[in-house]
Amino acid sequence: MVSSVSGGSQPLLQVLHGHPQSRPPIWFMRQAGRYLKEYRDVRARHPGFIEFCLTPEDAAEVTLQPIRRFGMDAAILFADILLIPHAMGQNVRFVKGEGPKLEPVVSADLMKTLSADKAAERLSPVYETVRLVRAGLDDDKTLIGFAGSPWTVATYMINGQGTKDPSAARQLFYREPQMVRDLMAMLVSATADYLIAQAEAGADALKLFDSWAAGLPENVFRELCLEANMEIARRVREKTDVPILYFPKGAGALYEAVAIEGSFEGLAMDTQMPMEWAKKTLSPHVALQGGLDPLLVVEGGKAMREAVEYLVKTFDGVPYILNLGHGFVPETPPEHVAEVVKIVRGD
Ligand code: CP3
Repeated sequence: MVSSVSGGSQPLLQVLHGHPQSRPPIWFMRQAGRYLKEYRDVRARHPGFIEFCLTPEDAAEVTLQPIRRFGMDAAILFADILLIPHAMGQNVRFVKGEGPKLEPVVSADLMKTLSADKAAERLSPVYETVRLVRAGLDDDKTLIGFAGSPWTVATYMINGQGTKDPSAARQLFYREPQMVRDLMAMLVSATADYLIAQAEAGADALKLFDSWAAGLPENVFRELCLEANMEIARRVREKTDVPILYFPKGAGALYEAVAIEGSFEGLAMDTQMPMEWAKKTLSPHVALQGGLDPLLVVEGGKAMREAVEYLVKTFDGVPYILNLGHGFVPETPPEHVAEVVKIVRGD
């Protein structure tokens, strides 16, 4: 059993264990990335994005860059949710300016070419990255490991790309439910193994990204999002007691079902979340994270400062981690990021 020392000296773990801090701990989705020159310099050494993610020294370096520059409370492992389909045998490429491209899985025959069994094992360079990052971080900083949620990863696997709307995956589920359920079962299994291996290598907390949780009918959301992620959490908890954050982006009123029934230690909020409602309805059940619009950090100024102060004030006294409602975009000025950290710290 891998133990997370019940919070210890890490403010972010304290929050995930239900203890509010006098100032919220802070980190940002996509805090490692193209808005940082030091990231672009390392990125330029790698022709392929997957190959970059699977090079432990460089992945560890870019994971640590934002912590060195801004001093956030957590590092998030530098990797990608599409490493799992790659490790299951799907052809995954990242095309500059267009995002990910995958060979779409749209038939039972194509599905037979994929295997979950060895997927987590094939991602062993990621666990080496985790070890290197943990060794390079101060004790009070949290290392967050992560994976994509099964439905979100299935959406990319079926659609073949990330930029268009996710209707192909949803329609396939209505047309061939068993096929999608089989794919989901493979993803649950590979993802649980992958997260357990990250925890065993030294990740202090784990996050599941359900970026395509929006727009699903309630019964479909419950099955493909809530239940599938709870099953992963159950499997992870058989081996570790590392806390788990879930991000059901765009789930709207169904956030309440996730908070009450979900058994996750943390729930990440998107930019649309009504914050007073979240504090009243979700907060009694789960630690909350996020909500800041990443575009405010692109613009900066008064609107950004007021939004940050509003979040700090609204969640004063409850377990809360300041973060974005979605990832930084490449246009984000690093000075604005530094200013957000300064406001949150009350410096
Ligand atoms: O700093 C961090 O947040 C850690 C690393 C991280 C990346 N991707 C690195 C990355 C994390 C946590 C992710 C998660 C991820 N990847 C998600 C879930 C969160 C979300 O954004 O909804 C999703 C949907 C993906 C899939 C993905 N990866 C897309 C759609 C793209 C292309 C879009 C883009 O911004 O280019 C990626 C590429 C990617 N993943 C980049 C980074 C830093 C940019 C690629 C590059 O540097 O060349």
